[in-house]
Amino acid sequence: MSGVRELELDFKNGRTIVEIGGSLGRIGDLPPNCRNIILTDGNVRRLQGKRFPEGPIIEMGEGEESKSFEQVREIFSELLELDVKRTDRLVGIGGGIVCDIAGFVSSTWMRGMRLALLPTTLLAQADAAIGGKNGFNLGGRKNMVGTFKQPEKVLCDVDVLATLEQDELRNGLAEIIKHACIADASFLEFLDRNIDAILADQRAIMEKAIHDSVQIKARIVQQDELESGKRMVLNLGHTLGHAIESTGLNHGEAVSIGMALSARISMRRGKLGEEETARIISVLKKAGLPTELEVDAGRVLEIARSDKKIREGKLNFVMLEGIGKPVVVPTTLEEISGDLNDIG
Ligand SMILES: NC(=O)c1ccc[n+]([C@@H]2O[C@H](COP(=O)([O-])OP(=O)(O)OC[C@H]3O[C@@H](n4cnc5c(N)ncnc54)[C@H](O)[C@@H]3O)[C@@H](O)[C@H]2O)c1
Repeated sequence: MSGVRELELDFKNGRTIVEIGGSLGRIGDLPPNCRNIILTDGNVRRLQGKRFPEGPIIEMGEGEESKSFEQVREIFSELLELDVKRTDRLVGIGGGIVCDIAGFVSSTWMRGMRLALLPTTLLAQADAAIGGKNGFNLGGRKNMVGTFKQPEKVLCDVDVLATLEQDELRNGLAEIIKHACIADASFLEFLDRNIDAILADQRAIMEKAIHDSVQIKARIVQQDELESGKRMVLNLGHTLGHAIESTGLNHGEAVSIGMALSARISMRRGKLGEEETARIISVLKKAGLPTELEVDAGRVLEIARSDKKIREGKLNFVMLEGIGKPVVVPTTLEEISGDLNDIG
């Protein structure tokens, strides 16, 4: 069954209407009418520009290098030239990078203008556009500067995913699997049965996967909008994943290995059953994602040591006490090193 699915998400700092299955051209219908300023990147403009809603277009660069202070400054200059008011709406159309920059720019321009997001990658639809976090990189470190701002609307047009590379689809799938692991065993079973349909971009299955993923992330964010505790469970697979990513893997691959390691470490510490561990690893494998650490564990831990989230030698490592039952365990890198040596 396919059709528009709508979620109304209430956050302390605003309400977001998420529409899954709607059409990209419809964002301009939002009442009350106001001027839309579109922020996008060159790829997305080339592929989808004809379907963009009316409004001046600001084109930013692609890739993590564009998630920069210089890029934000250039966008501010364009907003000045366009005489953009805080009652105008910035519409970010693109992947997680465009969404993050649109979020930051909209929350700081004249102390906050309106914001809508049209995420165009699976990762952005199922994850990055939801939850209100935004930001840019500084001094080679990710997301060093940012704010929290909820968009008024997130419109996920599933049809735009047809032009995504398989690697990009897998990046999104890794986060969707993560959401299932931390919140919903039956969703993980659904993914187990339907991974091929998702990779083949079957519309109804894709919409359900995005819908459930958005719902899980939103529920967790609603409990902890400013990331003071509960939201940490969203970091499953990411603590080691970020370090693994720095060794040259793409984000989805690195997070997948991070999740598989976290599941194995949870099993080794008697928290997660053998069968559940095997199920998580099997779903990741079916998605075509790696689950083994191919690079030297010592190197990964050395990189992890510079993580901005390490405090007094300890980091909050997300483990599982069952599928859907995450637990944050303050752990030293030495302890994790012991786990990794045992896992082999
Ligand atoms: N704010 C959050 O909560 C949050 C959560 C997760 C990730 N993120 C951020 O998201 C970023 C990664 O996002 P991403 O994976 O979407 O990467 P991305 O934004 O770089 O997009 C990946 C590539 O796909 C292209 N693209 C976009 N839509 C396309 C389409 N429909 N067809 C073909 N190509 C398309 C883009 O031009 C880009 O080259 C990271 O910077 C990460 O930090 C933020």
